[in-house]
Amino acid sequence: MADDQASLRAPGDGEAAPVATDAPPRAAAAEGPVRAPSGTKDVLSPESARWMDLVARFARRATLAGFGLALTPLFEEARLFHRGIGDENDVVSKEMYEFTDRGGRAMALRPEGTAPIVRAFVQHHPPVPWKAWYVTPAFRYERPQAGRYRQHHQLGVEVLGTDDADLDVEVIALAAGFYEELGLQRVELSVNSMGCAEDRPRYLAALRAFLEEHEGELCDEHRQRWRANPLRVLDCKRPQCRAVTEQAPKMVDHLDEACAGHFARVRRGLDALGIVHRLEPRLVRGLDYYTRTTFEFAATALEAAQNAVGGGGRYNGLAEAIGGDPTPGIGFGIGIERLLLACDAEGVFAVEAPVPQVFVVDLTGGEQARDIVAELRRAGIFAERAYDNRSAKAQLRLADRSGATLALIVGEKELAAGTVRRKPLRFGGDELDIPRDTLVAEMRLMFDPSLGPQPRKGSS
Ligand code: HAM
Repeated sequence: MADDQASLRAPGDGEAAPVATDAPPRAAAAEGPVRAPSGTKDVLSPESARWMDLVARFARRATLAGFGLALTPLFEEARLFHRGIGDENDVVSKEMYEFTDRGGRAMALRPEGTAPIVRAFVQHHPPVPWKAWYVTPAFRYERPQAGRYRQHHQLGVEVLGTDDADLDVEVIALAAGFYEELGLQRVELSVNSMGCAEDRPRYLAALRAFLEEHEGELCDEHRQRWRANPLRVLDCKRPQCRAVTEQAPKMVDHLDEACAGHFARVRRGLDALGIVHRLEPRLVRGLDYYTRTTFEFAATALEAAQNAVGGGGRYNGLAEAIGGDPTPGIGFGIGIERLLLACDAEGVFAVEAPVPQVFVVDLTGGEQARDIVAELRRAGIFAERAYDNRSAKAQLRLADRSGATLALIVGEKELAAGTVRRKPLRFGGDELDIPRDTLVAEMRLMFDPSLGPQPRKGSS
């Protein structure tokens, strides 16, 4: 694909990357304007206002639950993901953006947020339990479609250092509460337990024996590949595999006592908090690091193929797999794009971009507008103006279109009199002149919530 990354190589990408040339800029122009790479999306205002609100709400929830923001690099040594997620995993073997940097190191753009957070934990040894939240882009070379992007964004949390089942409940409750806060009603929670190093081998043996018997009925891909990673067959959404795995042995029936007790406590906890959930024995999730609790939230207002609006689970072996001390962990990731698609589908969480409180119209050349907006903004007021010394009519039209509550007009007459004309644009009221030297104080009285009742937009 011509619009794909030039210098990044994604496994499975057979197409030649565009080569840098010395062609003059005119030749580049003839190729047409540069567009965003396929599978990516620009988020501009007013849509970006929803993103800001979403992240702010998530940050607040996470903070109230004791999580601190963690920022880690967007690229990591590729071996972090090879070791942490597993070489047999599609996200690593087929979808990861891997590249060799100029120093010859094998690097990768993060395909997800968990392994980097665990790497940071292993590197910095923060006191446990360590609770981190994040908002991050994630890169996967997938076939782009509605709700599936090559760069998507996740809100997530991770907790390291405890295996307490109450924490699983806390983490799931955090996500569930967030969907609820946004107004989503059609989100369904599935849970499962993936067992642990002790009971998993027994289960895998049973699953292998079952798949061997049914090999011929599996989808083309898994007929070839099931031996390498039999759990992936449970995750396969193709009808042939779905039909076979319906009858497959279930991990929950093979849990040892400790894992079964852990899972039972998680489910009791969810019940106690009124969090409706369903046991889904085939929920193994798309990444190979999971142990014990796994969970996924599906927005049923979206197409089934792309309706996971979040998911996560425990990964008690991940820290060790990437070279740290054995440390239990749990977390989730919520896909922002899909979450907003789900909000659209349910007609909830409509956020409007902020509009100016005042619009300064300067008919004297622009210097008054320059000074007044600076003063108002310093006082915490959202002030806009026109540029390029536009005509009175053009400036008033812009003021009106901006959505501002008031226009503050300075003409030659006002300038001479030391006043500013206040013209209500939205909520009625009379025009009046305000002394220039009390303008900022008046505007603060009108718009600053800490100084009086809000909004006093129509007051004159
Ligand atoms: P994941 O299920 O691969 O888990 O991704 C989490 C969420 O990101 C998905 O539920 C979905 O909403 C969104 N998502 C994933 N891939 C795409 C895509 N190509 N386009 C749009 N949205 C997408 C993880 O990444 C784990 N790190 C979650 C986790 C955290 N587990 C434990 N801690």
